[in-house]
Amino acid sequence: MSDTLRFDNKVVVVTGAGSGIGREYALFFASRGAKVVVNDLGGTVKGEGGSNAAADKVVNEIKAAGGIAVANYNSVEEGEKIIKTAMDAFGRVDVVINNAGILRDVSFANMKKEDWDLVIRVHLNGTYAVARAAWPIMRQQKYGRIINTSSGSGLYGNFGQANYSAAKLGIHGLTQTLAKEGESRNIKVNTIAPVAATRMTETVMNKEMLEKLNPKYVVPLVAYLAHDSCEESGAVFECGGGYFSKLRYQRSQGVCFDGIPTPEDIRNNFQQIIDFEGENDYPNNNTSIMAKFLDESIKAKLKPKVAPVKQTGGQCPNAGKTQTAGTSQSSGSSLQSDQLFEMMSAFMNSGDGASLVTKVGAIFAFDILPAKGQPVARRWIIDLKNGKGSVTQGKSDQVDATFTMTDEDFVAVCKGTLNPQNAFMTVII
Ligand code: NAI
Repeated sequence: MSDTLRFDNKVVVVTGAGSGIGREYALFFASRGAKVVVNDLGGTVKGEGGSNAAADKVVNEIKAAGGIAVANYNSVEEGEKIIKTAMDAFGRVDVVINNAGILRDVSFANMKKEDWDLVIRVHLNGTYAVARAAWPIMRQQKYGRIINTSSGSGLYGNFGQANYSAAKLGIHGLTQTLAKEGESRNIKVNTIAPVAATRMTETVMNKEMLEKLNPKYVVPLVAYLAHDSCEESGAVFECGGGYFSKLRYQRSQGVCFDGIPTPEDIRNNFQQIIDFEGENDYPNNNTSIMAKFLDESIKAKLKPKVAPVKQTGGQCPNAGKTQTAGTSQSSGSSLQSDQLFEMMSAFMNSGDGASLVTKVGAIFAFDILPAKGQPVARRWIIDLKNGKGSVTQGKSDQVDATFTMTDEDFVAVCKGTLNPQNAFMTVII
């Protein structure tokens, strides 16, 4: 059996497919069996005017080669019309490649509001509009692949492209959240930051560079990300001229202060705050900063005889201290999770839990086992139904859900290293 990645019976929507990289996507996917929606407004690189010719030409090329394609001439700002073209012609949407784009390059000092607005509308709002229209279809069929197009200018910034940079990094923000929201329905969403010789770059690159950067080089990565077999989601890749790489965030060692630091404390510890040497930390979710703090707290808890180090890289002086847990009273031998519940209790007592009570309105019980197969050692009640909320140890018959977990699993869930769905053994009484 051939291991060629095919797209038979798949419907692929490519925006801005009338020229440049988008045209190459459309021709490629059609050649691999996909039914392709060739969207293009047909305007100038600055986003002026429009014509059906760009999309029609690519559709004709695909048909001449024996492929299946339909044209759409709407602006990506009208994403629902593009997706409607796909549904009317082919009855489904499997892959969306958000590629359409324009430029309005000018220094920030000279940038007019219309330059800002149009670039944000086409890139960021256009990506949103097409994805939003395809989303319920993908959710319902429990399948989808979306590839969004960012740029090095968005990831790193670039002189004269404040509008474009803002839109392009916003697009990756959208990707990261859609990847999380689409996970349970097999919808994978990724971003690429391409480099290619097109009308967009012909004025800013020399002839030699342009020759090495045929837009065809971008296609293979996007094809793989669009395929059933690809599990990647939420990532951003650089690609062009035959080079492919993935980017990620790195967190510095950081410093955790005991109490609210002064600006002088920040100045005095700044080198450590920005220190990337030592243990590597590559966060990929916004709870990981809490996980980092908890991690330090737990480490310190497990080594109670080591005096807390003040203001050192990655160590939280607070971590060495026993947090007072309000009404909670730990009993029996200590569990790692005790400190986490005590911290939650302190959070509730600070008054910050009141918003959770409004949002959640439920009482949860956590039965913690010291290890798998052992009897429950601790029952914690998280009451998010009343007042400012509370976290206490003990009994309550009025819980809405009970989670039975080992101490180790609970800590791993809090640290973000274990998926709660895999960890919970008993849910809902
Ligand atoms: P291109 O100008 O050749 O192609 C863009 C296509 O989008 C054009 O055919 C244009 O008519 C279409 N388009 C523009 N506004 C539209 C709208 N409102 N609705 C529908 N179609 C519209 O440019 P290229 O280089 O192929 O760019 C493709 C994508 O790659 C863009 O998002 C661009 O920002 C991005 N990119 C390209 C780089 C490069 O080196 N070429 C570098 C970084 C990002």
